[in-house]
Amino acid sequence: MSGKKGGKMKLMVKECLIKNLNADVLVIPVFKDMENKEKMFVEVNNILNKLLSQTIYENPDIGEEGKFHMFYTNSRLKLKRVLLAGLGESDELDLEKIRNLGGKLAAHIKNNSMKDVAFLSFGYDLKNVTIEAASKALVVGFKLGDYKYEEFKTENMGTKEADKGKKKYKGINSLLFVPQVKSDLKLIENVIKDAEIVSNNVCIVRDLVNKPANMLSPSLYVKEIKKIFTKSKVKVKILEEAAIKKEKMGCIINVAKGSVEKPKLVVLTYSPPKAKKTIVFVGKGVTFDAGGTNLKPSQYISNMKQDMGGSAAVVGAVKSAAEMKFPIKVIGIMPLVENLISGTAMKTGDVITAANGKTIEVENTDAEGRLILADALHYATKFKPYCIVDIATLTGAASVALGSRCTSLMGNDQDLIKNLIEAGEKMHEKAWQLPLFKEYDEDIKSDIADLKNMGNPGGEAGTIIGGMFLQNFIGENKWVHLDIGATAFTAKPNAYKSKGATGVPVRMLVKWMRGLF
Ligand code: BES
Ligand code: ZN
Ligand code: ZN
Repeated sequence: MSGKKGGKMKLMVKECLIKNLNADVLVIPVFKDMENKEKMFVEVNNILNKLLSQTIYENPDIGEEGKFHMFYTNSRLKLKRVLLAGLGESDELDLEKIRNLGGKLAAHIKNNSMKDVAFLSFGYDLKNVTIEAASKALVVGFKLGDYKYEEFKTENMGTKEADKGKKKYKGINSLLFVPQVKSDLKLIENVIKDAEIVSNNVCIVRDLVNKPANMLSPSLYVKEIKKIFTKSKVKVKILEEAAIKKEKMGCIINVAKGSVEKPKLVVLTYSPPKAKKTIVFVGKGVTFDAGGTNLKPSQYISNMKQDMGGSAAVVGAVKSAAEMKFPIKVIGIMPLVENLISGTAMKTGDVITAANGKTIEVENTDAEGRLILADALHYATKFKPYCIVDIATLTGAASVALGSRCTSLMGNDQDLIKNLIEAGEKMHEKAWQLPLFKEYDEDIKSDIADLKNMGNPGGEAGTIIGGMFLQNFIGENKWVHLDIGATAFTAKPNAYKSKGATGVPVRMLVKWMRGLF
């Protein structure tokens, strides 16, 4: 399932007697250390003629983390199957284990061609985590685990002329929470809508990042963005080339010169009445990064469709804020370009002028992200925001610094940094701080201009140098830079992350925004 069809899976909460449940499978989460496990499920067990206690008796590993046991009810119930899903020791439970369970469940259910799922919701022995947090985590794991990018698999496309190009829905139809404790119903109901919004938006971000660059040039990307925000409270404004020139955004103009595709600057605005604060997200939107005149070698050019991952995360964050009616004004600024090589491309060594008047010697045309962000960050300062957060697949060096399991974070305000790192920790979208020591400024001094766009040869401290460069364009504002060069796209899938686009760091940003009001 991909994002556009994400809304198809119905999420529900209903009190229901097991004997009346109509679903392909009833999932019962079990802990390893639950004594007399079968007593917890008296109702199911009785109806099933003790099939449940028998299964538990015969399988001592039931309850072990990640272990599934499924059995058929053999028509004793409207329900077709029962699946016991292990969560490990009850006092070692955390939200990531629940997300992983959700992801694994989605895969298992899909592989067994089941469509309608009932989940006997926690409610007993839940330690360390609340029922609300547990339910949210399950929805997130389940929906993201159900994600697969298959837009261009012909087998998934309709056969009728009218259906051509539209994907057939092959995912799970419904997930029904059946609370074990009556009072949990309201609690679960209150939170799963938000979890659904965020998960759907992460799927939309993954779809955008997974889209091949020929399907998502700057002009096609703008069309997608307009589609995504139709009937939304978010206003979409596009600055075309002429407006970009008028704003004196020399960096965006120069990076885009190598392509026939014109640059665009997208400005998203979510402005609720009586907003408490204004925040600005800025996202790198290089729809394909060939490196320009400093052409990338083959092994580094594959997957460079991901180079708009920062801008896609901005789409996801602004959309989530609007749909969850956050009482803050959220602006999203996304410069969109292709970084290509041609007779009109910017040349290595060129000197260009950013919108804030600073001159830059382009020592490497492949360090284009920081150039387009320079203009976009300067534009962001005009909104007089509480803070600016930029998100960018800025450096390959981020993989060297922290690897693919953690986003590199830099900034000029320790409180802001701490809050973002904490939000990431809670959502398991980890980020860690790299320093922006003054001393590094020496490395981006140019002999002939104010700045140069790369540091020492050999890529020394490459990720930090990226941050140091950007710092020149943020004025006096509080600012954080998230380098997702190692985390936006993955070759290491897990239970709820498929290969390719991850949707990072949307869930982190949403969690962080919640702390702002
Ligand atoms: N888009 C790349 C960074 C990147 C690499 C993102 C791999 C995701 C995966 C960026 O524009 C780039 O090429 N950066 C250079 C900077 C260098 C020339 C100073 C890099 O990281 O090598
Ligand atoms: Zn580049
Ligand atoms: Zn790039």
